[in-house]
Amino acid sequence: MSDDVTLYRGLDGVHIDTSSISSIDGLKGELIYRGYDITELADKASFEEVTYLLWNDDLPTAAELAAFKESLKPHFEVRSDVLDLFRTMPDDIHPMHALRTAASALAAFDAQADGVGDDNVRRIGLSLLAKFPTLTAAFERIRTGKGPISPDPDLSIAGNFLYMLTGEKPTEAATRTMDVALVLHAEHGSNASAFVARATASTLTDVYSAITAAMGCLKGPLHGGANTAVMEALERVGSVEGVEEDIMNTLNSKGGRVMGFGHRVYRVLDPRAVILKEVSHTLAEESGDSKWFDMSLEMVRIMDREMAKKGKEVKPNVDFFSASVYRMLGFPKDMYTPIFAVARISGWMAHLFEQYSDNRIMRPRLVYSGPTGKTFSPVEERS
Ligand code: COA
Repeated sequence: MSDDVTLYRGLDGVHIDTSSISSIDGLKGELIYRGYDITELADKASFEEVTYLLWNDDLPTAAELAAFKESLKPHFEVRSDVLDLFRTMPDDIHPMHALRTAASALAAFDAQADGVGDDNVRRIGLSLLAKFPTLTAAFERIRTGKGPISPDPDLSIAGNFLYMLTGEKPTEAATRTMDVALVLHAEHGSNASAFVARATASTLTDVYSAITAAMGCLKGPLHGGANTAVMEALERVGSVEGVEEDIMNTLNSKGGRVMGFGHRVYRVLDPRAVILKEVSHTLAEESGDSKWFDMSLEMVRIMDREMAKKGKEVKPNVDFFSASVYRMLGFPKDMYTPIFAVARISGWMAHLFEQYSDNRIMRPRLVYSGPTGKTFSPVEERS
């Protein structure tokens, strides 16, 4: 490798562009969406308000919010031929395969799928924001032998999602908990899937292609798939007493990573984890079953102890406490990542608005480390 090339493996420390969407201070444990602290937004704002904020310069006025909600209403319903795709799929596939396929299929039914002008990109964004909860709930119902439930356009995105999953109007408390989870998962800077969405859009291909690529990226266990992996670990462990042995086995295995811990940017606790820990605690107290929360706390204790011995700062991330929260809300564990996508479509679209409006194709390079100067011999002469 020549001396004047610096490698940034995993693009660590590389800034690909400027952005006014969100900012992370990994040393302070701070996340802001367009200037507003995530802690305050999670406490006071709805997912619709936060999406408006991410898609515009500031929070909406009451009239702007009402208009935004109204503009979503025609988009909640998903045409039956797209839902029929779910009926053709095996019941035991990862739901992200189903949802990624559905997001891609929507392009086939959109005569203006390819336009990347701002108005068209925003139209598709509204449609996908509204349809992701419908698709996610419909897949869950279809694979469990139940018919999909039509969206109720008068409910919020969070409330509608819960309604379409269960067929029952959700309580205000459940809707608010869902809303908080959606707000916390909506956006997170140049994370792997937002980067993939931007890189895909940088070829000036269509929104559906960029979002489909982002969904494939989110599914990975090092990214949005970690919440499911956390729940698998909690189920495997089964009790507070079993936590230590399980973590030590993981840490002592080659390249062992404890899911739900660590982050490229945060060196202190992820502020989203702080909030979700409280939500998890509240749900545990309300339900009278603190098993998942207690095990989670024990995992944090053991990880803190072990990482301190190695002088590392590896703290719980957003996926860690979201696992126990989603469990206590009654979601099947393989639906946690699709629920992440229901929220993250908000941030992905904000990134696409920025990318399309001031584009340069993304084309990094690799340092070649293979052989040179080999001599070609015809196939019959090769041994
Ligand atoms: N469990 C155990 N050790 C971990 C760890 C984890 N979850 N996350 C990081 N570490 C350790 C690494 O072993 C590494 O040690 P080393 O320098 O001796 O190799 C050190 O902390 C730094 O980690 P690094 O590999 O540089 O982090 P990264 O930025 O490349 O990776 C993640 C970030 C998120 C992919 C990584 O922390 C991880 O795999 N976490 C688990 C998956 C997860 O929860 N993903 C969701 C992220 S929101």
